[in-house]
Amino acid sequence: MFQTSDVSDQAPSGEADPAFRDDVLACFRSSRRAIPARWLYDMAGSELFEAITDLPEYYPTRTETALLKQYCGEVAAHGGAGRAVVEFGSGSSVKTPHLLRAIQGEHYVPIDISGDFLRESAASLAADFPALQVHPLEGDFMHPLQLPDEIADVPKLGFFPGSTIGNMVARTSLDLLRSMRETLGEGAMLLIGMDRIKSPDILIPAYDDAQGVTAEFNLNLLRRINRELDGDIPVERFRHVARWNDSYARIEMHLEALEDVAFEVLGERFSMTRGETIHTENSHKYGARDARLLLRSGGWTTCAEWTDPDDWFALILAEAKPFQRAP
Ligand code: SAH
Ligand code: AVI
Repeated sequence: MFQTSDVSDQAPSGEADPAFRDDVLACFRSSRRAIPARWLYDMAGSELFEAITDLPEYYPTRTETALLKQYCGEVAAHGGAGRAVVEFGSGSSVKTPHLLRAIQGEHYVPIDISGDFLRESAASLAADFPALQVHPLEGDFMHPLQLPDEIADVPKLGFFPGSTIGNMVARTSLDLLRSMRETLGEGAMLLIGMDRIKSPDILIPAYDDAQGVTAEFNLNLLRRINRELDGDIPVERFRHVARWNDSYARIEMHLEALEDVAFEVLGERFSMTRGETIHTENSHKYGARDARLLLRSGGWTTCAEWTDPDDWFALILAEAKPFQRAP
């Protein structure tokens, strides 16, 4: 059993984020049931994700952390030194100190949708870096965000670790890369983690672990709906499913109804039949050229990349160069 924070202090019904309410109702009113993955991250979801990062099966965190430990000095040498670090989906910010120590900049802007978790993580990081100005920004990085005035004239280094980009479909990831370029400005750099395509024998256990932590992370979405949207979804009648979709090169997480179920959300009645699923997350994986092409399409030119000996995970440094004439 995994302990998460007491959720009794979380938003009671009626005070939920209207965008969450709209996404959930749209899901249950439609025959193609899907909920954007960002709603997996309330306080309990963020804590469960942190527990996932310690699992033996979940290789991405330890692999990327090893790359950061080894190569952040090179990031500084490639022009990263002294820049303000702007992190997208910062979560616990536990990887960031490796970068901050190498870059030696004066500003850090962690951005995350999970507000309470963001503030706790930012406070803890600020205590470890007393000379650093930390400016936490709660919000959805898919929408335009106003960076703090203090960094308006400081060159910027975007940091997007964890392969969180993989949680977006192609069109959305491209929108995000382009909007990051707008936000960070021409001449900015981006250090991004991207998980590589590998055998489903490694991928499936990473997303369906033996201790059931990933299952709890996924099922917490239904609990969040019940908590925040006055729902009575019978959570125990759903199971976590992780599938490899080879044609899209992605792991998909679903919640499958174990029997016919009926429930209410915000006073509206819904039903699902046995075997029907709610699609809750995609986690795309990338070949080396796929990654470079995606970045280039978003306006980011790769200037260096590092991988582990098994080529399981890539850390890529890219730059927002001025657009050039092309034939
Ligand atoms: N960067 C950390 C955490 C990755 S988990 C790491 O590498 O381990 C993904 C993080 O992105 C979570 O903290 C989640 O709350 C945040 N997130 C997901 N979608 C988001 C969105 N649309 N806008 C802002 N933050 C988002
Ligand atoms: C945050 N994100 C990159 C994780 C991933 O691997 O796609 C989220 C996650 N979902 C299940 N396990 C981890």
